Amino acid sequence: MNTNQILKGKKGIIFGALDENSIAWKVAEKAHAEGAEFVLSNAPVALRKKDIFQLAEKTNSQVIAADVTQVSEIEDLYQEAMKILGGKVDFILHSVGMSPNVRKSIPYEELNYDYFLKTLDISAISLHKMLSVAKKMDVINDWGSVVALSYIAAQKVFSSYSDMSQAKAMLESIVRQFGYHYGRSKKVRINAVSQSPTITTAGSGVSGFNAFFNYANNMSPLGNADAEACADYCISLFSDYTRMVTMQTLYHDGGFSSMGISNKLIDQFINCAGNNIE
Ligand SMILES: NC(=O)c1ccc[n+]([C@@H]2O[C@H](COP(=O)([O-])OP(=O)(O)OC[C@H]3O[C@@H](n4cnc5c(N)ncnc54)[C@H](O)[C@@H]3O)[C@@H](O)[C@H]2O)c1
Repeated sequence: MNTNQILKGKKGIIFGALDENSIAWKVAEKAHAEGAEFVLSNAPVALRKKDIFQLAEKTNSQVIAADVTQVSEIEDLYQEAMKILGGKVDFILHSVGMSPNVRKSIPYEELNYDYFLKTLDISAISLHKMLSVAKKMDVINDWGSVVALSYIAAQKVFSSYSDMSQAKAMLESIVRQFGYHYGRSKKVRINAVSQSPTITTAGSGVSGFNAFFNYANNMSPLGNADAEACADYCISLFSDYTRMVTMQTLYHDGGFSSMGISNKLIDQFINCAGNNIE
């Protein structure tokens, strides 16, 4: 791997590496290659899968369990992480999301509201909790960088993305509002990366995922951005090259978000049977 050591001397916390397909997994590999030191974290239940310990070995890092909906677990995690890393951190990756409604294929018009609250807590409010605890405990160095992963269903309807759409809209709003407060007090920058459909456990859990994936791939002039490219982008956001970027939803999607229709899709519709105006 070609590296420029752009994270040399930087320390961080990476949430959400479940297996080698996870976006957080690729970010950890690249952060390590670029010279960063970090701690890995995931929910206690996710650690049972054990894959994360291989990543820890590969990247010379330690794993600390934390359910991101529990403030006390985030506090303990930060304390432990600062001990391991020998001080404050420069970057945090929030690569966490889950909807029990999506998992159980509950139709959007009939959402289970306990599950809905869980979706929001795990996928969006957790970012607020991470930031709030970090600010109180003074965990992040001045000019540090926090990145959260989002999806364009925050802005537009992707029919089966269900209550995760609201979670992403809330996540992006927290990015902006906390970005203001943390920016003013500590120059910490906070951004959301709105990523193409990506083949991971969370991604493939959305019903009709293959259609999301193929549609976006055929629509985008550059094709879908994969997890590796997403990790490269996250690394650039942790580096000093993006010091003045904050409070943004940054589309990392091969151009998808600016498209209306593409020639590839026109060709598909022209060639399909029943191509009459309805
Ligand atoms: N895969 C896609 O198509 C896609 C597209 C855009 C954005 N994203 C976002 O990227 C992020 C990472 O997802 P991924 O695609 O790498 O899938 P993934 O399944 O590998 O990662 C999701 C992670 O969230 C963790 N998690 C769930 N509940 C948790 C809790 N209570 N506490 C701590 N961790 C918890 C899981 O253990 C898992 O590691 C998510 O925010 C997802 O919504 C994914």
